[in-house]
Amino acid sequence: MEQVDLLILGAGAAGLFCAGSALRQGRRVLVLDHARDPGEKIRISGGGRCNFTNLATAPDRFLSQNPRFAASALSRYSPGDFLRLVDRAGISWHEKTQGQLFCDGKATQITRMLLDRMEGAELRMQTAPQQVRHDGTGFLVDTLAGTIRAAQLVVATGGKSIPKIGATGLAYDIATQFGLRLIDTRAGLVPLTFAEQELALCRPLAGVPVEAEIRHGGGRFRDALLFTHRGLSGPAILQISSFWQPGETLQVDLAPGRDIAADLKAARAQSGRISVASALGRALPARLAAAICEEMGLGQARLADQPNTRLDAIGARVNRWQVRPVGTEGYRTAEVTLGGIDTRDLDARTLQARNVPGLYFIGECVDVTGWLGGYNFQWAWASADAAGRAA
Ligand code: FDA
Repeated sequence: MEQVDLLILGAGAAGLFCAGSALRQGRRVLVLDHARDPGEKIRISGGGRCNFTNLATAPDRFLSQNPRFAASALSRYSPGDFLRLVDRAGISWHEKTQGQLFCDGKATQITRMLLDRMEGAELRMQTAPQQVRHDGTGFLVDTLAGTIRAAQLVVATGGKSIPKIGATGLAYDIATQFGLRLIDTRAGLVPLTFAEQELALCRPLAGVPVEAEIRHGGGRFRDALLFTHRGLSGPAILQISSFWQPGETLQVDLAPGRDIAADLKAARAQSGRISVASALGRALPARLAAAICEEMGLGQARLADQPNTRLDAIGARVNRWQVRPVGTEGYRTAEVTLGGIDTRDLDARTLQARNVPGLYFIGECVDVTGWLGGYNFQWAWASADAAGRAA
């Protein structure tokens, strides 16, 4: 039977990084993955440029039942540590906004760097683990090509998002099998979908972006919102989607920092002959301004003809838009999976299962989910490094 010191399931961000951190003289490290190529999510991340970390990384940028759990690993492997690897590999990068670091070139450079870093470990693709057992002395993992015995096992098979490129719930199954608890999973960083009433507004505006501020459930984000054929998307919506639960109503400010009712009253005093839509178009994209006026039955009505109550209503519609999504686009398009392996059953320093020595869970399968903006990769690197050093 084939024997290794450390077997890592999953050749994504966390698994590849863990292999590199775990390499020590003479140690046999094997990484298994059922996909054809390693790092598929890295390849498609950040619009193909991989937002590989965020300089503002801190535990409060992550959602978890235990918000302090991630602090230990994050403090021991920082964005600066990862950036040093990127610089040493000669990969050029830029800061886009809010501490988000992206490659100048293709995201696959990051995968190449991770593969170079784990030179000495073996990577075996297109190999699916069939069954995982523990026989009292080590882990036994059956594959179609035979059984592998490993002294230690790291599970890095990610979450459920984007099944089309290989996501499965394997990590949750292994966790359950070994008695670890799970926090219910749901799609995060995902577009929101709406009922016909809101779609009547969204559909004709599909593709129109607007700067918005959305507060909900402890989250507050000011960023671009994008109308789509199915509802709303864009960074502000993806961020708030992780804080939203079915049945809840969101309050959206479509003109943050501006008091639209006051602006319209001032405009009426100065140039009342213009249409409400034109006046509103000074603060919003023209198509959105026109659609809101249409929806409120104003058509091309003149600003001068509108009483204060009407302008207040338009202001409320823009600054305090109440919308109730009917759902999300789900795992099909979600960037991450919220919930997962309950952190109460993992050691925060090593990511080892408290009651199963030698078994580790890292990356997205753990109940630690970052905001949009490079935080999820930073968690993958940090949790992988913690486990890789300990295992
Ligand atoms: P990951 O999903 O990377 O890897 C899991 C691996 O396990 C895969 O290789 C998979 O094939 C394998 N696997 C799964 N089931 C298996 C099974 N049953 N048997 C064998 N192998 C199995 N984050 C960020 O910080 N910045 C960004 O720019 C982006 N952009 C982005 C875009 C898109 C479209 C998505 C979907 C996601 C992002 N993310 C992101 C999130 C980021 O990609 C994600 O958090 C990390 O890839 C998680 O790393 P893991 O290694 O935990 O899982």
